[in-house]
Amino acid sequence: MTENSTAVSVRDLSKSYGGVTALQGVTFDIHRGETFALLGPNGAGKSTTIEILEGYRDRSSGHAEVLGVDPQKGGIAWKARLGIVLQSTGEPGAVTVREQLAHFAGFYANPRPVDEVIAAVGLEEKAGTLIRKLSGGQRRRVDVALGIIGRPELLFLDEPTTGFDPEARRQFWELIRSLKAEGTSILLTTHYLDEAAQLGDRAGIIADGRLIDIGRIDEIGGPDARVPVVRWRESGVVREQRTTAPGLLVAELARDGEPDGLEVIRPSLEDVYLQLIADYEHPESELSAPRDAHRATHPGNPDSRSDSAEEEVPA
Ligand SMILES: Nc1ncnc2c1ncn2[C@@H]1O[C@H](COP(=O)(O)OP(=O)(O)OP(=O)(O)O)[C@@H](O)[C@H]1O
Ligand SMILES: [Mg+2]
Repeated sequence: MTENSTAVSVRDLSKSYGGVTALQGVTFDIHRGETFALLGPNGAGKSTTIEILEGYRDRSSGHAEVLGVDPQKGGIAWKARLGIVLQSTGEPGAVTVREQLAHFAGFYANPRPVDEVIAAVGLEEKAGTLIRKLSGGQRRRVDVALGIIGRPELLFLDEPTTGFDPEARRQFWELIRSLKAEGTSILLTTHYLDEAAQLGDRAGIIADGRLIDIGRIDEIGGPDARVPVVRWRESGVVREQRTTAPGLLVAELARDGEPDGLEVIRPSLEDVYLQLIADYEHPESELSAPRDAHRATHPGNPDSRSDSAEEEVPA
């Protein structure tokens, strides 16, 4: 039996579709109240993992527990505790946004008020519109609304913001923060690494069906991947140096006046992620070492990790 503090527990999970191995020995936990971001390239196995945990797909081997229940055996009462936003949904019927939400609200014991959910996803002006007449991003908002209407304890979000305009994405982030504040556990996949960094507590990085790294968002990839880069211009030439003490370097550079084009760049989650994937795909290859200006300025690059590594970079 899973401890009460664990929302999802996955051990050595594997899945094959005929001859295609989609997951190989994946192990992780999601704690109650946590937002866990599952990140990885197209075809890595993220949706497969989510769909197994939702009870939509059977696993080939391994163990899974979701809110203390094996998803292959979860009944209606268990499903009512989950919120699900699939990566893709079928064609909607001829119903309005409000009708669809009211219909789904009827399946739950303690649903959120329909109008509150419509407002939370910013569809007030479209509440009376047929879903099939909505734009792609507006339909996606309906998917999110359906995922949260039942006040789920655990919310699965498979690329929820695909097609959202920037403002809608920010509004969605606020919605997720308020769900987090209420204690909702969340499993999120996204290709927007800024979104994962904004919302996630921990992340798992998956490639070729294997979990290649897992950890807190601000720690994943290890300390070396986080070393900042100081960049400045000297006689028209861009120079840069990786250093764990950027303030000291900046002070030194500023001794004789304001340095030209000064920047302190901290590797983003996207930088760290891209480096992890490159290292995984080309473990011994030069492809993960600097070859051109872009690589040379990549802050997560292991070949420029020395504190004293100062490089001249083509402007
Ligand atoms: N129904 C299926 N039948 C056969 N193979 C499948 C099926 N669904 C997924 N696969 C394969 O399993 C692998 C993992 O797919 P999955 O959809 O889990 O990837 P993903 O990480 O969600 O990718 P994306 O970022 O593109 O959504 C891929 O190689 C895919 O082709
Ligand atoms: Mg997917």
